[in-house]
Amino acid sequence: MTAGNAPASSSGSQAYGEAWYWDNRYAHDSSIFDWYQKYPSLAPLIRLYVPRRQPILIVGCGNSAFSEGMVDDGYDEVVNIDISTVVIEAMRMKYLNCPQLKYMVMDVRDMSAFGTRSFAAVIDKGTLDSLLCGHNSHHNAAKMLEEVWRVLKDKGVYILITYGSPAYRLTILKDQNWTIKLHVIDKLQSGNNNSSDSEMSNQEVTSPIPLDANGGGAFPETAAAAVGVNSDVHYIYVCIKDDSGKEKNEEEA
Ligand SMILES: C[S@@+](CC[C@H](N)C(=O)[O-])C[C@H]1O[C@@H](n2cnc3c(N)ncnc32)[C@H](O)[C@@H]1O
Repeated sequence: MTAGNAPASSSGSQAYGEAWYWDNRYAHDSSIFDWYQKYPSLAPLIRLYVPRRQPILIVGCGNSAFSEGMVDDGYDEVVNIDISTVVIEAMRMKYLNCPQLKYMVMDVRDMSAFGTRSFAAVIDKGTLDSLLCGHNSHHNAAKMLEEVWRVLKDKGVYILITYGSPAYRLTILKDQNWTIKLHVIDKLQSGNNNSSDSEMSNQEVTSPIPLDANGGGAFPETAAAAVGVNSDVHYIYVCIKDDSGKEKNEEEA
């Protein structure tokens, strides 16, 4: 995984799952940095799926300006967690006078400080990707996704922004009963350049790409058609929690 882009060779990125790596990185470079995409390019999607008046959780927030963008856009309560004490301390100081933003040191694999069904949305930009780069990647990803599922309200959304293509990410998401909508966004839309030629319109970004009923078997052809010749995209998986079956079973038991 490289900043703003695709996976790097595995040797350099294996440490992305480790707290010491991120503490070291943030201690040496405290400048604001957004992985993959900045808030303005994702705002149409966030507005579509994320309610403004309910608590929202950002997992692995880093020193991104994404949460600030949400507050400027009218979001009331954005809770940010990260495994790095260094970055959380810096962000706490930075946003001392912004009551809508909270920062907490926490491992996304153990969010027991939060009650079950606490958040209307969980937003993840690059954090599952980091865990997948590290050691025990599948075990860590599974623990993370269990916790994300637990802290979401029923019909809450987990929004995963990633370089990971459906062939791989959909298999990781299959353990929970998500209803998944897939969106794609041009990598060049990240706000890191001034090119407007390659930018997708808001409507393209907010139009999901159809997945088949079995979880995307038909995806590659459909997606290829949807993104045309340009496959240089980030993927956004909007995973909607459907807990109704489970609650019914619990009631019946
Ligand atoms: C690729 S960066 C993304 C940062 C930010 N979300 C963004 O979009 O710019 C991954 C972040 O996940 C954090 N992280 C890695 N493992 C974590 C874990 N187990 N729990 C919480 N945060 C973690 C890192 O400290 C880092 O800030």
